[in-house]
Amino acid sequence: MVVVSKELLDYFKKSGARSVLDTIKSDLFSDRPAFLELKDKKDLVGVELGVQYGVNAANILQYLNIKKLYLVDIHDTAERREILKDFEHKIVYIIKSSTDAVTEIPDDLDFVYIDADHTEKAVYEDIENYFPKVREGGLVAGHDYNRSGTRAPINKFFDNNKRRVSTLKRDWWVIK
Ligand SMILES: C[S@@+](CC[C@H](N)C(=O)[O-])C[C@H]1O[C@@H](n2cnc3c(N)ncnc32)[C@H](O)[C@@H]1O
Repeated sequence: MVVVSKELLDYFKKSGARSVLDTIKSDLFSDRPAFLELKDKKDLVGVELGVQYGVNAANILQYLNIKKLYLVDIHDTAERREILKDFEHKIVYIIKSSTDAVTEIPDDLDFVYIDADHTEKAVYEDIENYFPKVREGGLVAGHDYNRSGTRAPINKFFDNNKRRVSTLKRDWWVIK
């Protein structure tokens, strides 16, 4: 469970962001079941595209054995830096679009989690750009498979590449 300061909780309460509070209370594997594929693996190197407040990133850092986590988002936020401050030594922040960030990401990643721009074109491009960055046997995953705009480009890419997409709750994933 992610532990956050009273000040930060007060901030979220005042902002009316109930969903953020709810997410903070969740645990990674029930909220984002794609990550069950990485449970018990060691020294993982991965990327999250679309970080927002850093709640999912905090869960990834707490529940998985992470060596390095690249966090890509077009916006930087003080709340994210606060939530993730205990994990700073494992994080590389890249404040750029996912398209521009790809050249700063190493090859042979253990995972990529795609949750940035949810338009059809952007989701397709994120998969197209980051799928080659993941090692054979690694995890290519993301959020919001329940949305048709997200589901369509995921199915299109993986149908073309003859890969089976797994889904549970709003997560989708492929083992490369
Ligand atoms: C749904 S939120 C991410 C939530 C986060 N993954 C979580 O589960 O806690 C989407 C985020 O994507 C970011 N974003 C939108 N378009 C982007 C892009 N083209 N490249 C990188 N980040 C983007 C937004 O700034 C926002 O913070």
